[in-house]
Parts: sequence; C-alpha cells; structure tokens
Amino acid sequence: MDSIRIRGGNPLKGRIVIGGAKNAALPLMSAALLTSDPLHLDYIPGLADIATMGELLGVLGCSFSVRKNGGGANIARGTLATPAIKNITAPYDLVRRMRAGILVLGPLLARCGKARVSLPGGCALGPRPVDLHIMGLQKMGARIDLAGGYIVAEAPGGLKGAEIVFPQVTVTGTENLLMAACLARGDTALVGAAREPEVTDLAECLVKMGAEIEGIGTDTLRITGKTELHGATHRIVADRIVTGTYAMAAAMTGGELELIGAHPEHVQAAVDYMRQAGIGITSAGNGILARRGADGIRSVDVTTAPYPGFPTDLQAQAMALMCLGDGSATINETIFENRYMHVPELSRMGADITVNGSIAVVHGVDTLRGAPVMATDLRASVCLVLAGLAAKGDTVISRVYHLDRGYERVEENLAACGAEIERLKEAA
Ligand code: UD1
Repeated sequence: MDSIRIRGGNPLKGRIVIGGAKNAALPLMSAALLTSDPLHLDYIPGLADIATMGELLGVLGCSFSVRKNGGGANIARGTLATPAIKNITAPYDLVRRMRAGILVLGPLLARCGKARVSLPGGCALGPRPVDLHIMGLQKMGARIDLAGGYIVAEAPGGLKGAEIVFPQVTVTGTENLLMAACLARGDTALVGAAREPEVTDLAECLVKMGAEIEGIGTDTLRITGKTELHGATHRIVADRIVTGTYAMAAAMTGGELELIGAHPEHVQAAVDYMRQAGIGITSAGNGILARRGADGIRSVDVTTAPYPGFPTDLQAQAMALMCLGDGSATINETIFENRYMHVPELSRMGADITVNGSIAVVHGVDTLRGAPVMATDLRASVCLVLAGLAAKGDTVISRVYHLDRGYERVEENLAACGAEIERLKEAA
C-alpha cells in the first residue's frame, strides 16, 4: 500500500481547480441505469470510487468511458449508456469497497422490476444501515428479502408511487428513492428528504432526463412517475467537501489559496465556521479565496448536522484546524457513531484531544510535530494531510488508498501550491 510523506511548514499559495463532487457523481452515474440513452457527465472526478462505480455499472450492462475535456486538471466528461440491463446482481466484491454501490438498487428495481444488491456491510464509521432505503422501496410496492448477505428485491408489476416519510435524514436513501420514483406509476412524496447540494444536483439532472420533480432543494420532494426517461448532458456540482478541505489547509499553513469553481453558498455553514475561526474567505472571480487572518486560528465549537448544517464530511478537517486553535473547541459529531478514528493519529502528532462519546474537546497547541500515522477512512486521511502540512518535520501517512477515493491529484495540487509532499509507492 502506498504512503504519503509530507515535510510540513510551507505556507500553501496558489490556485486549485475544484472538480465535480464525488458524492454527486456517484448517484448521477447510477441514474444512467434509468434510461437506454447516453448520459454525459461533465467534471467527472478522477477518483477510485468513480472507477469502482464504473466497474459495478459495467457488471449490470452500463458502459462508462471518460474523455479529458481540455482545460487541464479536473475537467473530464464521463459518458454512460445502458441500452439494456444485462444483470441485476450488484456483487459483494464491489459494494463492500464502496457503500454507495447501494445506489444501484432503486434504479435497477425501477427499470427492470428486480434487483439483487449486496448489503454494504459494516463500515469504519459504525453500522450504517440501509433500512430506510428498504422501507421506502417496500412502500412503493417492492417485495424485499434479505438472503445470503444480499437485498433481493422484486416489483413484478413495477413500482408504484407512495408517500414516504423519513424518520432520519439519509442522503443516499433519498437519492435511491428519488431515482426509483421517477419510473414508478403515479405520484411519490419524499418527506424529510435530504437537501444536500448533491441530492439537488441529482434531481436537476433527472429533470433534464425527463423526470417531473417538485420541491427540489427542500425537504419534500414530489415526483410524478414517467414510463421512461431519456439521455442528457449535465455538469456535476463542484465538490464542497474538497473546497472546505483546501480552505482549511490554506489557513493551517498560514497561506492563501484560490479555489476555482467553488460554490461558497454550498459550504455556507463551513464558511461561517471558518470565518469565526479567523479564516479570511472572500469571493474571487469564479470561486473563493481562503487565507489565515492576522490573529491566527481561533478555537470555535462545532456540531455536525444534515445540510444546511456543518457537514460531517468536514468534521475531521475542522478537528485538525482546531488543533492549532488559541483555546479549546468542542466538536459534536451527530451523524455517525464512530467518526473519531483520526483522534489517536492526531495525538501522535502532538494534538491534545479528549473524546467522550460523540463529543471531542480539542485544546489548541502551538505546533504539531510530524510522525508516522495511519489513515483509517477517507476524511480521516485528509485531516492527517492537513496536520502534516502544518506540522514541524516529516509525517508519513500510510494506507492512503482511502485518500484516493475522494481527493483527485491531491499531492500534485498541494505540491503545485508549495507543499513538500510525495507519494511513496509500495515496492511491487
Ligand atoms: C452520505 C455521503 C457521506 C456522508 C453522509 C452524511 C455519499 C455517497 N456519501 O452517506 O459522505 O458522510 O451522507 O452526510 O453521498 N441511516 C439509517 N438508515 C438508513 C440510512 C442511513 O439509520 O437506511 C443513518 C446512518 O447510519 C447515519 C445517518 O442515517 O447515522 C446518515 O446516513 P446517510 O445520510 O444515509 O449517509 P450515506 O448516504 O451513507
């Protein structure tokens, strides 16, 4: 397994193009199962999870190709086409690598009346069940059994519209049911739906594909089912988590980064948080400019929440930032049970953090020190990169394959902005 070595201390200065959001691209790719026409997705990010989703869709009969679209980094077009579903089984091997594989369940069932999708299984962030995906599809008339680790779903006469009330906000659950409802008979209401920009992006693309959806961007989506959808061309929304991550990196290193293509309104909660912490965030041309303020980093409390709240996917990075705060900050993780695996690793670098259940208290220190650390999940690994960039000395992060799932060309982007960072390839 590859690792990354960082010699910390260089202020980051420069420009980074923000690519399409992974969490928008994955459901958009599964939407290609809903039509026999091609779907073109611009700004498709070059990430391991995108390749895994492409592989999974390939097993089901959907072709996926990527063409660089000129304009240099991070700009590519993904084209998907599913003339016919060849196979209704999403195998364990692929779904266990990426939980978002569950996103093929709704489209498969809607298009061909049956699906067999591996349960994603346990995950480093806690149990992460899919009961709400199943509940919604059952409400739409599907018969669902769990057998041999697979969700076996059937709707021989097709899915029918229903009113589905989510007792808890679920992003991929909303996306799965939204896609299924587009080809169901009659009207569906999704109440208590996720409002994340990635859900909105999917809904907007589905409308381009001929779907009828009201309430886009709100917590109640009303869908009038159609007998078929058609192809479309769609530009994937910019990645708000990558945006927030690089903005915090600029502040932690005392540098200044222009994040091109970033949508500040999609990271409003994080922008507000960073401003309270003393980070300067201003709009700059087609994006934002992030830099540390003159007074250093202020310690500020934060609680994660569904959109428009502070994203759980930026919690680890905020914790890295708070390690350099001027006092104590309390972090409250309300979305996932087990999302503090970066704490012992940050502690190895000299951070002062205590965890009690969902609450972490971060006491700021003057400096972090480089150390060998291990990445445990996607956002935890990038928080270690941020800590390494700001630390004194060398940090070697092992198991960086997690990073490749969500950050495109991260070493290249950071090195171009002055970081001393290199990938150490595992000897073959
Ligand atoms: C998505 C994102 C992930 C992000 C998360 C929360 C993708 C591909 N991934 O994950 O990066 O961290 O949203 O913003 O978009 N839950 C249930 N039953 C269900 C579904 C979810 O109890 O059927 C619970 C989960 O255990 C969790 C909470 O609901 O505690 C939110 O999970 P959810 O929004 O579904 O996360 P994902 O869609 O998996």
